[in-house]
Amino acid sequence: MNERTDSPTANAVLVDWVDRMQALCKPDRVVWCDGSQEEYDGLCQAMVEAGTFVRLNPDKRPGSYLARSHPSDVGRVEDRTFICSMNRDDAGPTNNWAPPAEMRATLNGLFDGCMVGRTMYVIPFSMGPIGSPISKIGVEITDSPYVVANMRIMTRMGQAVLDALGPEGTFIPCMHSVGAPLAPGQEDVPWPCENDISRKYIVHFPETYEIWSYGSGYGGNALLGKKCLALRIASVIARDEDWLAEHMLIMGLESPQGEKTYLGAAFPSACGKTNLAMLVPPAGFDDWKVTTVGDDIAWIKKGPEGELRAINPESGFFGVAPGTNEATNPSAMRTIESNSIFTNCALTDEGDIWWEGMTKEPPAHLIDWKGEDWTPDAGRPAAHPNARFTAPAGQCPTIDPAWEDPAGVPIAAFVFGGRMSKEMPLVFQAFNWSHGVYLAATMGSEATAAAIGQAAMRRDPMAMLPFCGYNMADYFTHWLNVGRRVVNPPRIFRVNWFRKDDDGKFMWPGFGQNMRVLKWMVDRVHGRGYAVESPIGWMPRFEDIEWAGLDFPAETFYRLMEVGRDAGTQEARAHEEQFDKFFDRLPKEFIFERELLRSRLWRSPDHWGLAHEDFRHPAG
Ligand code: OXD
Ligand code: MN
Repeated sequence: MNERTDSPTANAVLVDWVDRMQALCKPDRVVWCDGSQEEYDGLCQAMVEAGTFVRLNPDKRPGSYLARSHPSDVGRVEDRTFICSMNRDDAGPTNNWAPPAEMRATLNGLFDGCMVGRTMYVIPFSMGPIGSPISKIGVEITDSPYVVANMRIMTRMGQAVLDALGPEGTFIPCMHSVGAPLAPGQEDVPWPCENDISRKYIVHFPETYEIWSYGSGYGGNALLGKKCLALRIASVIARDEDWLAEHMLIMGLESPQGEKTYLGAAFPSACGKTNLAMLVPPAGFDDWKVTTVGDDIAWIKKGPEGELRAINPESGFFGVAPGTNEATNPSAMRTIESNSIFTNCALTDEGDIWWEGMTKEPPAHLIDWKGEDWTPDAGRPAAHPNARFTAPAGQCPTIDPAWEDPAGVPIAAFVFGGRMSKEMPLVFQAFNWSHGVYLAATMGSEATAAAIGQAAMRRDPMAMLPFCGYNMADYFTHWLNVGRRVVNPPRIFRVNWFRKDDDGKFMWPGFGQNMRVLKWMVDRVHGRGYAVESPIGWMPRFEDIEWAGLDFPAETFYRLMEVGRDAGTQEARAHEEQFDKFFDRLPKEFIFERELLRSRLWRSPDHWGLAHEDFRHPAG
């Protein structure tokens, strides 16, 4: 039918693009989303009627819905994610690349008629507060009402964004289809998508700042403001415009004296970023306040004083649900009490949601994420391990008062951490900026047992491996350059909450207790904290950490902090292998940093740590 709707914008480039996409995709109708509550409620109601959404019990979970995806569409698809730069080397060895002309031809074929029988939604959205100099406008075209509803939580969306765009403003086009056209009379399914994984495509054209996503309706594959725009394309824009787009949470730490320190922290997916961002200070830190600016992405730019300032470009949390509970993250539990969308969680008999780890005892009966009856003896999880909640950030009890400040918050420290069961100490500080960038670039993380059944380590520089939109060696160089151009660059720290003892038990309690480590960082940032020079960086001694409220043996602390010379040397050798593939694009600084690390280790005792005089005894 191809019915034409009047467009609510005078932006000719946008109107022309929408017209062209309509002609290509051939939807039954086009709807420009205004972002209103009525529009959201109407879409949700229609999805309830279509079987995509289950309305949760309003007494238990007001304004909230459960969606169950198709079992073939449950997470990001890294091997179907492409960076299509003109030149293969500009995508670099860590990205999938395809020649842009070839990819455009493929996409044109796939998108031709892909929305037949469906509605094409036009979603204008702002990443970052509308009108902030750090924000960017995107427009997503999609045939998924589920995407529209989620985008309304995750971004600032609708008419206000078109107003801010104006007739001349520029936007990032984000084209999305679930890839499931409907033949005349064909009945729809609750979760339409392309079931053949080899026909899913998450494509980025970095030179033209463009995103095309086909075949998946889930998470980062479909909510294109998040990983595709705010990380992959934004990392390219950030390189071009001299700022940073990072896979980082942003949190504030306020001391009893009212001194506020903000830090950005990068961890690979599934290392507890949301929990850390919403940390509850433990006993002994009663007068400290922890606030949340963001849990996943930070856009960081130079402020007027030459300092680095960060915003959270998102306006919601798309958090991993399993494992979230009153103990691990009470603030998240408050945030998701209402107005939230749950995907691939289990449904209780009372019409509420449940997932593994939410309560000690599972309910006696559930409907699992596939819509089947489930009892605790079922021998399979009730919620998918990558089940998610989508919740408005403004509902978070720890949300920072400045979280929507268009100027961002000043960043005093960067923290980088992976999941390492061996050898990597609890915390240490880089000697300087270039050493810190090296530490971040060589970061590794073990895949969780649930994912692959064993601890295989993958290098995940700055936790950006799946999210950097250009050659990672150039990204390292960009990081080095940023440090040279800001006043008093943030201090850089490495952490590892996941070291295990010989019995395979975690040595560090984690969660709220991480506050003790963060407090040492705050002290360091403000020039108060003591540290000892180790072969790998500055380290706190036992007495440099605040232990009030926790009985933690010094002996265990020093084992947590130990650095083995042989293991360290092996690690340095592994860095060489990691970097070989970047050839001559690798910044020279990294060669020197590696050699310095090697020589410091070479001169250190077998096991630098407890045996080391400086480390064991207070200075002076
Ligand atoms: C996420 C991820 O969903 O990093 O945030 O995978
Ligand atoms: Mn993430």
